[in-house]
Amino acid sequence: MRRAAVFGTGSALPVRRVSNAELAETVDTSDEWIVERSGIRFRHIAGEGETTSTLATDAARRALAAAGMAATDIDLIVLATATPDQTFPASATLVQTALGIDDCVAFDVAAVCSGFLYAVSVAESMIRAGSATNALVIGAETFSRILDWEDRATCVLFGDGAGAIVLGACEDGRGVLSAKLHADGRHNQLLYVDGGPSTTGTVGKVRMKGREVFRHAVTNLASVMGEALAMADLTSADVDWVVPHQANARILDATARKLGLPPEKVVVTVADHANTSAASVPLALDTAVRDGRIKAGDIVVLEAMGGGFTWGAAVLCW
Ligand code: UT7
Repeated sequence: MRRAAVFGTGSALPVRRVSNAELAETVDTSDEWIVERSGIRFRHIAGEGETTSTLATDAARRALAAAGMAATDIDLIVLATATPDQTFPASATLVQTALGIDDCVAFDVAAVCSGFLYAVSVAESMIRAGSATNALVIGAETFSRILDWEDRATCVLFGDGAGAIVLGACEDGRGVLSAKLHADGRHNQLLYVDGGPSTTGTVGKVRMKGREVFRHAVTNLASVMGEALAMADLTSADVDWVVPHQANARILDATARKLGLPPEKVVVTVADHANTSAASVPLALDTAVRDGRIKAGDIVVLEAMGGGFTWGAAVLCW
């Protein structure tokens, strides 16, 4: 049976790493508040010359190296981002050019923090259908550029970065076993950007009603993970690793508890990366692959929820 399996992972972070204490020098906040409410200790902030596409390209190069593949082996690039270099063309085409690929399918996916789940689902469907063979699936963001640095309720929570996987056709039983996506646009005003090309002609800034998002996140994530596991004929007991969207350590704990999953099976990188939106799942995935936690044959669940609302989960046999 033809499936889409992960052949390699990679990630990239901006050079500048900012601690809570450093933020507290310019924002009315404290290390204590940020750690207690979110679990975040550091975030990376893009500097001059670092953009969504440069971070995405670095992550993609590392994923290709891990897969032992050349850029020219790639026939599809799906890049999840809410912070593209330009409104158009898609940042995926900038990555394509930077990698020296003259012709392939390349497009961006906009589902904010769930973007990587949406991108994986689209790419694996195309691979299973035979319209692609080897895909680069990337989540990359420079959220620091759309934060309101006067709004302490949001600016302390986000960071920049990129993660990538090479997803390729495979017939040995490994690969994406199931993927389930959702969207409910009625919740637009709980997490959104207050501008855009077709409304204000500007980029806008992130606005969030954190407490309400939190409540929806725990319910939706537990439920979609259950759906994705059921689609794969598995239960929580079969799961080796959960690689969640890294928005808040308390959300990760509460969601794992709801599914009866021990905290040791949850990959947590929120302390070091903060919330990097579409980049957070592939960044955490690359961390757990490189430090040897995720091994061949493991059952790995990816999950995320974000603006829209959008949310989703995928189950993979590694
Ligand atoms: O990636 C997409 C998904 N996003 C999420 O999942 C985010 C979900 N939400 C959250 O993670 C949490 O709701 C937050 C971390 C955003 C906030 O935690 P909370 O426990 O829900 O706090 P809160 O927003 O209810 O604020 C509590 C207090 C408020 O003061 P009062 O009204 O109680 O006096 C805020 O003004 O904390 C105050 N506050 C701060 N204080 C110090 C808000 N931001 C800060 C800050 N530093 N940065």
